[in-house]
Amino acid sequence: LSSVEVDLSGIPESSAVIVKWRGKPLFIRHRNQEEIAAAQQVDLATLPDPEPDTKRAKVPEWVILVGVCTHLGCIPISGGGDYAGWYCPCHGSHYDNAGRIRKGPAPLNLVIPPYKFISEDKIIVG
Ligand code: FES
Repeated sequence: LSSVEVDLSGIPESSAVIVKWRGKPLFIRHRNQEEIAAAQQVDLATLPDPEPDTKRAKVPEWVILVGVCTHLGCIPISGGGDYAGWYCPCHGSHYDNAGRIRKGPAPLNLVIPPYKFISEDKIIVG
């Protein structure tokens, strides 16, 4: 299947789930207001791959990412690392809650797949 529909209604705030899409893991994170505020306040000049939070999430509460480390392709672990986002244990890359690379060898932010909201709590990815 080239696209997948995901029901977001069962994903609690401050948690992340993994869904499969085109043979790859998709990370779906439900951010709370504090997490959104923290991500929006980051000084872009400190980022290896500068992208404002508003570019990373169409709806601030929901971050949708391809769960493949941009270094050498391992699958990062949710909730780990120094920036409360994801941590890739293969060589130590730290991503924030918007999937932006903050520390470690990965050169780029986690990729955002094409997706759209078809209702308040449903998306189609792909
Ligand atoms: Fe993730 Fe190397 S593959 S840090």
